[in-house]
Amino acid sequence: MEITTVAVLGGSGFVGRHVCQALAEEGYRVRVATRDRERAKKQLILLPTAEVAVVDIHVPGQLAEFIHGAEAVVNLVGVLHDGRGERGFQAAHADLARKVVAACREHGVRRLLHMSSLRAGAQAPSAYLRTKGEAEATVRESGLGWTLFRPSVIFGHDDNFLNLFAQILKLLPVMALGSPNARFQPVFVEDVAAAFVKALADLGSHGKSFDLCGPRVYTLRELVEFTAAATGRRRTVIGLNDSLSYLQAFFMEWMPVKLLTRDNYLSMKLDSVCDCPFPFGITPAALEAMAPAWLGPVTPRTRYQQFRSQVRRYNDSVTSDR
Ligand SMILES: NC(=O)c1ccc[n+]([C@@H]2O[C@H](COP(=O)([O-])OP(=O)(O)OC[C@H]3O[C@@H](n4cnc5c(N)ncnc54)[C@H](OP(=O)(O)O)[C@@H]3O)[C@@H](O)[C@H]2O)c1
Repeated sequence: MEITTVAVLGGSGFVGRHVCQALAEEGYRVRVATRDRERAKKQLILLPTAEVAVVDIHVPGQLAEFIHGAEAVVNLVGVLHDGRGERGFQAAHADLARKVVAACREHGVRRLLHMSSLRAGAQAPSAYLRTKGEAEATVRESGLGWTLFRPSVIFGHDDNFLNLFAQILKLLPVMALGSPNARFQPVFVEDVAAAFVKALADLGSHGKSFDLCGPRVYTLRELVEFTAAATGRRRTVIGLNDSLSYLQAFFMEWMPVKLLTRDNYLSMKLDSVCDCPFPFGITPAALEAMAPAWLGPVTPRTRYQQFRSQVRRYNDSVTSDR
């Protein structure tokens, strides 16, 4: 069946915005479900063709109405910190995946792209990864034309990761860092979005799961030090041992704005790295090539470097399409 309309859950978030933009650029009609129309509209302001609908996707009737008439569903909903009810891991990951699969089956939507996370699984140490694993199992057993994506941490000019480090480093001359040796392989958000778009119409990706990683492995300490250097700040990073890392997460859990929880600490017990090639012939962008353009002070030189790397990436994608 030809896909023309894609219903996106989580399309107003960081990754969702890029996925929706990439889908729209490929000519798909994009429909985005949100809990907050005004916020979502602002997030998708550069995408005037995207339809934004206020939907409680946890209510099966509303979910069904939202996906009705679409030929594919993209589920990007995820929470990093556990909350109450529908804001919790179980509801937002595992239960929602069941509701999405049921709605797709009932309404004849055969194609489902689902966002998981690297190292998700039933035996994982954190509830985040276990509930992501439960959702994966539901999708794998769905009988639909499914494709799963399992990225390491994702970076981009509007991320909540390097930008968060940059904000903290602005305030603190010395940073006490929990889990400094946790390993990541950051992947560029536009590469993730490109993988979703390439998979959508690719029959060969049905029933497959793709780990998405960037070209290099970094420890958490290296990522913080990279951010400090890119923002032009001299900062001292003190790595905490395991017990102090746990205690830091325990205390930060009680702060009004949650930056870190014990569940995040447990997720970082597993290396978020992979050694498989990036799918669909996409060459994943390096952190060093992209991030200084938005982390560093904006100068004509940084603008020029960003422009050059964009041209290089465009040329790479044209070459790989041939
Ligand atoms: N960012 C990363 O580094 C990373 C790494 C690995 C995997 N992932 C996965 O990628 C997906 C997208 O991540 P992101 O960074 O883009 O997250 P994000 O910016 O927080 O966006 C999350 C989106 O999900 C929706 N959402 C969140 N909780 C919801 C709930 N309880 N009910 C209904 N909608 C809810 C939000 O929609 P509204 O607020 O508009 O309703 C928002 O559009 C997630 O599944 C995440 O686990 C992300």
